[in-house]
Formats: sequence, C-alpha cells, structure tokens
Amino acid sequence: MIIYNIGELVGIVPEGVLRKQGVEMSQTGVLHDAWLRIEEGKIVEYGEMRDLSTSLEMTGIDARGGMVMPTFCDSHTHVVYAGCRDGEFLDKIAGLSYEQIAARGGGILNSADLLHATPEDELFRQAMERVREMLAKGTGALEIKSGYGLNPADELKMLRVIRRIRDSVPAAVRATFLGAHAVGRGYTHEDYVQAMIDMLPQAAELSDFVDVFCDEGFFTVEDTARILSAAAPLGLRPKIHADELAASGGVQVGVAHGALSVDHLERAGAAEIDALRGSETMPTMLPGSSFFLGIPYAPARDFIAAGLGIALASDYNPGSSPSGDMRFVMALGCIRMRLTPVQAFNAVTLNAAYAMGLSAETGSITPGKRADLILTQPGWTLTKLPYLYQTPFIRQVFLAGIPFIP
Ligand code: NIG
Ligand code: FE
Repeated sequence: MIIYNIGELVGIVPEGVLRKQGVEMSQTGVLHDAWLRIEEGKIVEYGEMRDLSTSLEMTGIDARGGMVMPTFCDSHTHVVYAGCRDGEFLDKIAGLSYEQIAARGGGILNSADLLHATPEDELFRQAMERVREMLAKGTGALEIKSGYGLNPADELKMLRVIRRIRDSVPAAVRATFLGAHAVGRGYTHEDYVQAMIDMLPQAAELSDFVDVFCDEGFFTVEDTARILSAAAPLGLRPKIHADELAASGGVQVGVAHGALSVDHLERAGAAEIDALRGSETMPTMLPGSSFFLGIPYAPARDFIAAGLGIALASDYNPGSSPSGDMRFVMALGCIRMRLTPVQAFNAVTLNAAYAMGLSAETGSITPGKRADLILTQPGWTLTKLPYLYQTPFIRQVFLAGIPFIP
C-alpha cells in the first residue's frame, strides 16, 4: 500500500538511531511532496512524488497534501484505574495541594480503595475506554503502570488487566510494576517495602519494568535501591518517578541502577543533569501534571543545552494528569517549557519510544519499523500541531499499517 501526495513526511530517522540528544533534538528528517510504501505492517520505503515511478492505480491512499508522521509514543501512564477522583478536583480548586489531599487519605490511597472494590472485568472495561481514546488521538505505543493495588493481590490484578489490554489493542503496550507507589493500607512503611520485594518474582512474569515513587513523603532512596537491586536479577529495568515534589535523589539512584528512564523532574537541576551525562537513561518530563497541579515545569531546555535528550509523556492518571492527549503534551512542551516544535516532536516520538525500549520498532519514519502513522487533514505542518493545539487534525491513524477504527 502506498500513501501518496503527502504534503510533509515528518520524522524520518536513519536506521539504528535509537534516541536523540542535545543538538540532535532539533533535527528530524522532513520530505515535501512525498509518498510512503507499507508492506506487511511495516514501512518499506519513501520518496518524493516526482520520483514515484510506480503506477498509482495500485491500492493507495491520496493524502491530499496532509502530513504523515509517526504516531505518538506515551512512555508513562497510569491508565488502569477505577472510577475517578473528581471530589479531589474540587478540593484542589478549594486550595488543597497534592500533598495535602494525599495526607487526608485521598490521592493514590483513594484510587486503591476504588480499585479494590472494582471487579477485574470492569477495571479492564474502564481502562480500555481510555486506551481507545488515546489511540484515536494518535498514540501508537504506551506504557502502563500498576500502583493502585497497594497489596500483592490487587497489584497482580492490575498487571493482569495491563496484559489483557496489551493482547487486545493493535498498539504496542509495555507494563511496569509500580508496587511502591504509596504504602498500602494496613502496612507499616517497612513491611510494605518488604511485601513489594517479596512479590517481585510474580510481578516480573507480567511486567517489563519496575518503578518506584522516589519522592518526599513516599519512598526513600534506600527503599528504591533495595527494590531495584531485587528486581534486576528478574530482568526488570527501572523507570523511576523522581523529583516531582522535591529533589529526591531518585535520578541518581535510578542512573546507578541502569534505569531506562527517570520521570517527572520538576525539581531537577544541575546535580541531576550531571548524574545523567553519559548514561543510557532517558530523562522524561510530564508537563500535563505540572499544568494540572500548578507546580513548576521541568527545566527541559537546561537538559538539552547540557547535551541530554528528553522524552515527554502524559502521566495519564486520575490525580495529577487526567488526560492522555499527546498533542496537548507537545503543546505544553512548546508553550510552557519553550521547546521548539521539532524538539517536542522528538520528545513525544523517538525518545519516548526509547524510554520504553521500543525505539528499534516504532517512533520514526524508518524502513523496517512498524507503520504506526498519523495521516493529518490537508494543510497541517509540524509547527501547527502544538500551535493550533485544539483544532482536530487527524484524518486517519494507522497501527502496524492498518487503519485504526475507534
Ligand atoms: O505520576 N507521582 C506519582 N504518581 C502519579 C500520580 C498518581 C495519583 O495521584 O494517582 C504521578 O503524578
Ligand atoms: Fe506517574
């Protein structure tokens, strides 16, 4: 199948480039008046219209000048949750902070109570509604965390639901065990950390990665190091929540344990940038939670100026970022973090794919990669995406070459 009359083919990256860092963040391959050929769900080749020798009478899609780009990759979400926390939304408007809501027994513990009371099938149904909406909005690969179970049985229930989502959608899904998201009810802090370590072998059967909410009032650097050390022999690479509420040491302990990503980073600075230099860890920023909680945005430009790459993800969850709209994430990256559209684009595609170990398979226009593509309405450009941030832009999403019908 050929898509032809593409106005802008955006996100062309040579084979073997798995992430972008520093000045590379400002570069991506663009071809104007282009075509792209898909075979067996994969991108096979592309070129300029004037060089297209093949007859267009074959099965083809006329892009009518629309843009074609890779689908968004969302490397940090908590979309498996029960119900919602709209009551806390009112508390927040009344002036309570995220920490104050959590201290009153709301927050993550509130979601854990709801999840406990929700049958597994219903949990799956609710999560699938969110995932389908995300795919319709152009996300083609996503990571989903546990962390609203907060006891071994309910954590495994969440991981089974994530597995079922993975088996049910045409997008790539990766699972992260985030048992250490908050101390579950009825446990002491110490007992809870031990319970999470003890269940790692079972969790590992259903997970790709391990995460710890390493932050003030949640889990310490020592807790994090213990959990990561126990997870490593089971093949679980870390993706760490760090520096959201305070400079937590989460970046440093994550890098020391070979984390694939360290995420949030709203309070990160020079020490964290130093720790990340030369590492394989992708700093991942979640501007949707800065927007929703009214906290600082992570210093993305400082990271890039220091030669690092960054990814942007939605953090879709009921407490700090109730949205999985990656175009909005891109817009916040440009408007509030002052990234250029190309930098934000690399952060929501190739680098986010890297942050879930998927950048050899998706996240760019590269022969051999999955044909996970967004075809836009005519007239769209990369710059217009974050600028006209609410105008509908998608004509068709393709996942592994197949049109996605929500
Ligand atoms: O990434 N920071 C920790 N976890 C989530 C929030 C979870 C919640 O409030 O339900 C986050 O922001
Ligand atoms: Fe999160």
